[in-house]
Amino acid sequence: MDWTHLLNLEFPQLPLDAADEAILKELAHKLQDNYPYHSPDYAGQMIKPPLPLAQAAHWMTSFVNPNNHALDGGRATSALELETIQALGTMVGYSQPLGHLTSGGTTANLEALWVARQCHAKTVVLANEHAHYTHSRMSEVLGMPFQAVASTENGSMDLIALETMLKELRSEGVNATVVTTLGTTGMGAVDALEDIVPLAHTYDARIHVDAAYGGYFTLANLPFNTLRHFNAMSSANSIVIDPHKHGLQPYGCGAVLFKNPEEGRFYKHDSPYTYFTSDQLHLGEITLECSRAGAAAAALWATQQKFPYVRSGAFAKRLNASLEAAKGLKHSLIAKDWWVLEPELDICIFSLPGVKASEISALNRAFFEQKAKENLHLALFSLPQRNCPWQIKWDIPSLTVVRSVLMKPEHNDPKLWDRITSA
Ligand SMILES: Cc1ncc(COP(=O)(O)O)c(C=O)c1O
Repeated sequence: MDWTHLLNLEFPQLPLDAADEAILKELAHKLQDNYPYHSPDYAGQMIKPPLPLAQAAHWMTSFVNPNNHALDGGRATSALELETIQALGTMVGYSQPLGHLTSGGTTANLEALWVARQCHAKTVVLANEHAHYTHSRMSEVLGMPFQAVASTENGSMDLIALETMLKELRSEGVNATVVTTLGTTGMGAVDALEDIVPLAHTYDARIHVDAAYGGYFTLANLPFNTLRHFNAMSSANSIVIDPHKHGLQPYGCGAVLFKNPEEGRFYKHDSPYTYFTSDQLHLGEITLECSRAGAAAAALWATQQKFPYVRSGAFAKRLNASLEAAKGLKHSLIAKDWWVLEPELDICIFSLPGVKASEISALNRAFFEQKAKENLHLALFSLPQRNCPWQIKWDIPSLTVVRSVLMKPEHNDPKLWDRITSA
């Protein structure tokens, strides 16, 4: 096959017949049934539009359709994938990262927990009660015991509770794996990794960092007390970062990184089908998934060429705009007497004031629905009592509050905050 037409950016005419076109029209029609994800009016869930360059690189590579399972299936894109992993590794302070792209954060975390179990057969997984549900679920899949660690009022892991659990496990002769979340999905809270590192060392625990959502904020202008925990990522045994969240990639792009390249040995397996073409590392030898889209590696590589992972670079500026958007929305809300939690990253949680949990929850739900009618899309979050700083009467176990994820630079706009705060 000759791919030279790609060199001239001449994409082959797709041989679509009239029937294909009719199907595509029908598809286009069906795709209208969506929220406006690309618009700043969408500030609900963790959805960020991919960079046009990433989409183009993905589409362009799809003409080759490489499979990064083995060099047999994707020579060029395997090399690109290794470059992308090196860039992510350098960003988190790993000198010799072993890692690969995955279909998303769930699979990436599954692999990190699996390697933790390969290191210590009976390790117990400890994670913030606000950690992504994938950790308890994947622990179940892997047959690993899982224990949730209580959170502090701001939603980060309570280190006193963690130490008590580590002590108890050690007295029973049991090893622990501490999952540290840098940016919880619900509240955007950052676990105190820099303080967890010495604790974990004292109790011989392994550290896995789930930075699927928050990892890229290591490049941003965070206050020192938050940044120090991102700076401590280099001390963790493994890290997950999702380029399809803040990394401007289309869906289907997570990443798992291991600090110690020796841990690649756990993936060892025999394949009578592949690995014929070269003695070099085939990515399938260090992944649990077999077929993986080489196009995802190409898209991420292209994005990293345009936006290198450097502090104060253009990519970091986009992240800073998201941090500023959350602060800006917070101030607009306070000015109008709303209740707001202090945003640590770009997730802002707020509530209409009131007396009883059930009544306030109903008001917040009505507000959320009203805004959706105004084509302004927010989200809801169930705030447990222990994370609620407001004095209210608890007639139900948790308070439904409004949650807004301000992932787009365009969210840094006072006009948008005004639209959100007008009740
Ligand atoms: C902290 C965290 N971990 C893991 C995941 C799961 O990632 P994915 O949806 O890419 O599988 C998410 C998703 O929001 C997340 O926020």
